[in-house]
Amino acid sequence: MQAIKNYVEANKDRLLNELFELLRFPSVSADPKYKEHVLKTADYVAQKLRDAGADNVEVCQTAGYPIVYGEKIIDPSLPTVLTYGHYDVQPPDPLELWKTPPFEPTVRDGKIYARGACDDKGQFYMHVKAFELMMQTNTLPCNIKFMIEGEEEVGSDNLGIFVKQNKDRLKADVVLISDTSMISMENPSLETGLRGLTYLEVEVVGPNRDLHSGVYGGAVANPATILAKMIASLHDENNHITIPGFYDKVIDLTPAERKALNEAPYDETEYKADLDVKELWGEKGYTTFERTGTRPTLEVNGIWSGYIGEGAKTVLPSKANAKISMRLVPNQHSDEIFQLFADHFTKIAPPYVKVKVTPHHGGEPVVTPTDSVAFRAAEKAIETSFGKKPIPTRGGGSIPIVALFEEVLGIKTVLMGFGLDSDALHSPNEKYDIFNYYKGIETIPLFHKYFAELNSQ
Ligand code: BES
Ligand code: MN
Ligand code: MN
Repeated sequence: MQAIKNYVEANKDRLLNELFELLRFPSVSADPKYKEHVLKTADYVAQKLRDAGADNVEVCQTAGYPIVYGEKIIDPSLPTVLTYGHYDVQPPDPLELWKTPPFEPTVRDGKIYARGACDDKGQFYMHVKAFELMMQTNTLPCNIKFMIEGEEEVGSDNLGIFVKQNKDRLKADVVLISDTSMISMENPSLETGLRGLTYLEVEVVGPNRDLHSGVYGGAVANPATILAKMIASLHDENNHITIPGFYDKVIDLTPAERKALNEAPYDETEYKADLDVKELWGEKGYTTFERTGTRPTLEVNGIWSGYIGEGAKTVLPSKANAKISMRLVPNQHSDEIFQLFADHFTKIAPPYVKVKVTPHHGGEPVVTPTDSVAFRAAEKAIETSFGKKPIPTRGGGSIPIVALFEEVLGIKTVLMGFGLDSDALHSPNEKYDIFNYYKGIETIPLFHKYFAELNSQ
């Protein structure tokens, strides 16, 4: 542990400056205007893996953005850790809400502000630097493979294909990912599950053109009003989702599981204060942890219709649209849920509008084992570096590829994230604490050490 700390201390400034360099690439995967930058980011990551000591580093082309692969096989008889992360980031919009520009990392109060600071550049780069540390101090105790992709924020479709085509190359004993959150630095935790996702878009079409709202208003249904009503009807008075069959496959947690989950420290006053909301909202009968970690949900991600420019325009819009996502839990399936939604939404459409439902992307939910050697190694690593045993929690977010790691490669995942929910992932002013960054670089080598040790016992 001391040797690890010494290495981080001695290289402190460089470790931080390299992350800053990485954060300056605007690697937004969702918007084609950033294409050139996303591609350059992949090359940069590949170079950093080579510099750290990885072999067979390759920028693997796909139908979309490339996947950066690298490995260090020290002894085929030793266990292998496959580290996954993503170098792409979410769009920075709305830009005017950033206190400092999203791609000019800035430190305020010990925190790095930049798009991707936490999700996931700051987190996956800890692994690259932890690997460098193990190489430089001659302490790499097992084989390691890196797979860093550039399309996580848009659903990882091409990575899914890559995984199916590279089963041999990706052979490993565990997948290790830092792309999730902890409760707090005082209460370190390990996520043991991720929700799945069905993302879609709806269009409600009324008259064949935008109309004068005075000439036609009152005689023709307004698609914006209709869409609002249809969306509002998707939750009942208890905030249950009304789509028939939606909950059919959900596996309820046992009372013991619910109890364990709710033992994690939670301060509702603080939670509300952080978000500036007076009251929380959610499915009746469940706590906040249960609502975000173990229950399926439906959210409107965006909604638009009619005139939204400066000033006023009296218009009855021809159509209205919304982007809607549903978070899924075991054993719901993203395609089935899409179908249930599409059938229901079409059915509830009144005769004065036409409805179109288009799928975007999806991902399946996962629950990771808590009794495996790898999970115990992660627990021990965190206990050693934080001085406190981590609390198991269920994460609300999704990492679509994790279910495929299990299904296609037969490998289970350990989610050893060092972010905080308050790091403003996907929001303006995303941040990552410098403390967490160094803490991660110190904890990751311990994971490898304990994983190798526990495997040899
Ligand atoms: N790193 C997040 C997922 C996450 C965040 C999991 C916090 C647990 C805690 C990831 O980059 C992400 O944002 N995933 C997307 C899914 C994707 C298909 C757009 C998500 O969850 O919305
Ligand atoms: Mn992420
Ligand atoms: Mn994300």
